Amino acid sequence: MGLVIMFVCVCRAVTDKDIDKAVQQHGCCSMRDLRNALGVATQCGRCALTAKEVLNDSLAKVARDIPGAA
Ligand code: FES
Repeated sequence: MGLVIMFVCVCRAVTDKDIDKAVQQHGCCSMRDLRNALGVATQCGRCALTAKEVLNDSLAKVARDIPGAA
């Protein structure tokens, strides 16, 4: 089974895995954090909605991994 990577922000070459990593390893928890850390949605802005969805999914994954948090 291959690894599937989705580009979320083409302008800044940011993938869904980059966002997962920013959330899990660098504590990003908002679009502002993602903009500051990765530059997501800082150029054309077309990725903002998808980036927010990926961010929410990443935050939900982190919450599931915290005992007693879900
Ligand atoms: S696709 Fe993200 S700023 Fe253009």
